[in-house]
Order: sequence, then structure tokens, then C-alpha cells
Amino acid sequence: MAVREILEYPHPVLREVAKPVPRVDDEIRRLVDDMAETMYDAPGVGLAAPQIGVSLRVFVIDIASEDEPSELYVFINPEIVTTHGTQVWNEGCLSFPGVSEEIKRAEQVTVRALDRDGNSFELQADGLLAVALQHENDHLNGVLMIDKLSALKKRMMGRKLAKKQKSQDAEA
Ligand code: NI
Repeated sequence: MAVREILEYPHPVLREVAKPVPRVDDEIRRLVDDMAETMYDAPGVGLAAPQIGVSLRVFVIDIASEDEPSELYVFINPEIVTTHGTQVWNEGCLSFPGVSEEIKRAEQVTVRALDRDGNSFELQADGLLAVALQHENDHLNGVLMIDKLSALKKRMMGRKLAKKQKSQDAEA
């Protein structure tokens, strides 16, 4: 297992539509393990394969808080099959470090996917897990949290990111 580099906005891979995984084999399991390690190292509650430069339909989620035992969810070729209601969460993204914004999502989702062994499963989620599922699933379609914001908030976030980039350049 290895911690991989997390790509940050506006890296072009983040905008690609990821390809389905043709077969869940050892190579995919290695990818999943690296993604989990990278997510825990960051730390974050979710990570999609495109965020480490792999344009495949895979993401991992663990929403357990620090005082709870970790519970890793692995989703390969996921499909959100039903959505219900709406909720607003203050979301962050490992590809937008230091940024968080309120984003409106479905309150409840049902997702169908393959697990780490290639077995099909269905999961119904609400609350933070439903938010994380929708956020990570967006990554597989090249959709990023900045796309979910109003024009005003988008400009504000753009300015914030540009400022951060400038100070990073200055440090380098
Ligand atoms: Ni993200």
C-alpha cells in the first residue's frame, strides 16, 4: 500500500469522465488499498480515483469520526439508482484544500456498486454518507464542488484559490 499524491483543482484529470472498471482484479484491489491509505493519510471522508490521477470509476468513503472504529466503504462502477429529498451540508474536497462551502444535495440515495471482491451490492444512505456518495460520484463524471455553487460563490472561491496559488508560488 502507498499514499499517492492528491491532484488539486484545476488539474485536467479531475475534469475527465472516468471509465468503468472492466474486471475487479488484484490491480484494482491495489488501487483501492492505495486510495484508502491516501484518504486516511489526508485525512478525508472520501476519495475518488481521478483525484490520484486514475480515471476509473472507483471511490472510497469512511465517515467514521475519530472516536469511532473506521468503516471503509468501497464503490466500484457505482450507480446512484434513486434519490429522495434535499439537504445542505458544508462540504470540503481534498482537491480544494482549505475550502468549504454549503452545497445542496439529495437527502437520501440508493447506490448500486461492486465491492473490493467484485460482488454487487446495494446501499441506502442518508445524512453525511449520502452527501459523500454524491460528492464522490460527481468526481467520476468530472463534476467538482465548484460547479455546484452560485455564480457569486464561484467567483469568491476562484479568487480564494488564486490568492492561495499566488502565496504558494511566493513560498516556492
Ligand atoms: Ni472531492
